[in-house]
Amino acid sequence: MADVRVFGTALDAASATADEIAAAVKAKPDLVLGVATGATVVPVYRRLVAAHHAGLSFAGVRCFSLDEYVGLPAMHGSSYRAEMRAQFYNPVGLPPSQCFAPDGMADDPLAEAARYEAAIARAGGVDLQLLGIGVNGHIGFNEPPADFNQGVHVTDLASTTLVANRRFFQPSEMQPTRAITMGVRTILSARKLLLIATGLGKRDAIAAALRGPVSPACPASSLQMHSNALVILDADAASGL
Ligand code: GLP
Repeated sequence: MADVRVFGTALDAASATADEIAAAVKAKPDLVLGVATGATVVPVYRRLVAAHHAGLSFAGVRCFSLDEYVGLPAMHGSSYRAEMRAQFYNPVGLPPSQCFAPDGMADDPLAEAARYEAAIARAGGVDLQLLGIGVNGHIGFNEPPADFNQGVHVTDLASTTLVANRRFFQPSEMQPTRAITMGVRTILSARKLLLIATGLGKRDAIAAALRGPVSPACPASSLQMHSNALVILDADAASGL
């Protein structure tokens, strides 16, 4: 069962999440960190950047992105690679050689998924995996019903996810409908999981993930099977528990 901590505000939850990551980096300077994108984690990275300016070194850390859209070049502002670079990698001085992500422009996305899974394994696996949660209970881009035995794979995005993420694209822009994502099996093989959820929009997904049955219908419910999962919530996201 996950360790659940509830904070008054979204900012407090983000600070606590960043503090967990900072403590992990201090304890293991060559940490393999799984990173997530989305609006929820923006203040987490902001706080980590502040910690870097206050002296925390990320020099030995390697980062692996959870997922990436298929069909977006790395330079596209809405690609998760660009987001990670802008919000975290560049400000803390992490060189590209230590930052890994699926290539959304790969000619053969299936082969790219296999390559990425192998790269994670070559790094020795993920020590700490940061996660957000979708309104439909997705983690990474594992949409319901999720196959808990899948490794990194190519997936079609759920219509709820397309609607939720439309805000990250210009009105005139084509929004990608597929992604390469770590699978639930990949995510659960991380040594520690750290999920953050904030806001009323995540209330039902969090209730299903933590209090519902372990079920493909709520991919985040798979966290109940992990022996070292920490869930950090604000009061709104926790209000269905
Ligand atoms: C996105 C990402 C997830 C993220 C989730 C929540 O689609 N693939 O990794 O956790 O949805 O995003 P947000 O924090 O913007 O609600």
